[in-house]
Amino acid sequence: MHATLTQALEAVLAGVDRRALRTATRALVEVYRSGAPPGRLVLEDATSAAAYAAYRMPATHAAVTRALHHATSLDPALQVRSMVDLGGGTGAASWAAAETFDTLERVQVVDGSAVALQLGRRLARHGPPAVSTATWTRSVVQEDFVAPTADLAVVSYVLGELSEALHGPLVRAVTTSSRLALVLEPGTPRGYAAVLAARSLLVASGWHVLAPCPQNGPCPLAGRTGDWCHFAARLDRSTLHRHLKGAALGHEDEKFSYVFASHEPVVPAASRVLRRPVRRKGLVQLELCRQNATAGPEVLTRRDPSAYRTARDVVWGDALLLPPR
Ligand SMILES: C[S@@+](CC[C@H](N)C(=O)[O-])C[C@H]1O[C@@H](n2cnc3c(N)ncnc32)[C@H](O)[C@@H]1O
Repeated sequence: MHATLTQALEAVLAGVDRRALRTATRALVEVYRSGAPPGRLVLEDATSAAAYAAYRMPATHAAVTRALHHATSLDPALQVRSMVDLGGGTGAASWAAAETFDTLERVQVVDGSAVALQLGRRLARHGPPAVSTATWTRSVVQEDFVAPTADLAVVSYVLGELSEALHGPLVRAVTTSSRLALVLEPGTPRGYAAVLAARSLLVASGWHVLAPCPQNGPCPLAGRTGDWCHFAARLDRSTLHRHLKGAALGHEDEKFSYVFASHEPVVPAASRVLRRPVRRKGLVQLELCRQNATAGPEVLTRRDPSAYRTARDVVWGDALLLPPR
């Protein structure tokens, strides 16, 4: 039985000075809060890599796990034997993929930061087999980047760290090296915009969106003010996580935007729940993204018992298999 990511973090970070970790965490929070591409590698020394692992890995792992779950719940036959984790850092997305796909055998983590890769490798020793045998490759994404070949390419929380000029080359590299791709960013307007641009590139390259979108055409939320497509993954905060963030709550909701696409044709959801459902006695109101490229509210009542029963149990981010009335 392998360790959980939380157990691995506790084991590997046990000896790291807490005060230095807190200071490095505060510095990282500042960089990420600004939202602007940092213009340099942020994980530049062992302490900043350790701080990233302690306070961000659980959240990025939870978001990737949820996005992959959205994809596999639509296509339970989805098989992945190999993956490449681009800008994979300390390997959170690789852990999530290995825990999602029991067929996964070969993982390659590629990143520009040597210290992130070193720490990722130490954590991975505690992880599931595909992670503990992963290869860790230092490579900096540039205009002429060529991605290693794999069934699945994951680009998780990376676009926001790159200059916009590199987004296209990285996504295009993925379209020629893999047959499945997950691109995931923070669930902010900026993160959504980067995902939307990646989605357009994937579709323009002949790829098909499996999740979250019910269709391949223009996103109905694009251009709306104050509204953007994003989801949330709840995760428990460990004692170390709470300490570093100075947080009191025992959990947090990680907001993320993503696209999961396939080189092969797919059967997407009939519709996707875009917000937390509003439930009142005998009534559920859902905000839905639909196959006809519209998005808006749908009210389901007891007058339609089967639709009401379905709607009663769904949560934000779920796919609805039946078309809404
Ligand atoms: C926010 S971290 C995300 C790490 C990991 N994918 C995750 O989800 O936890 C961004 C990663 O991108 C890497 N990175 C940034 N610019 C890069 C570049 N030009 N080439 C390769 N890696 C880069 C950083 O070193 C860092 O590990």
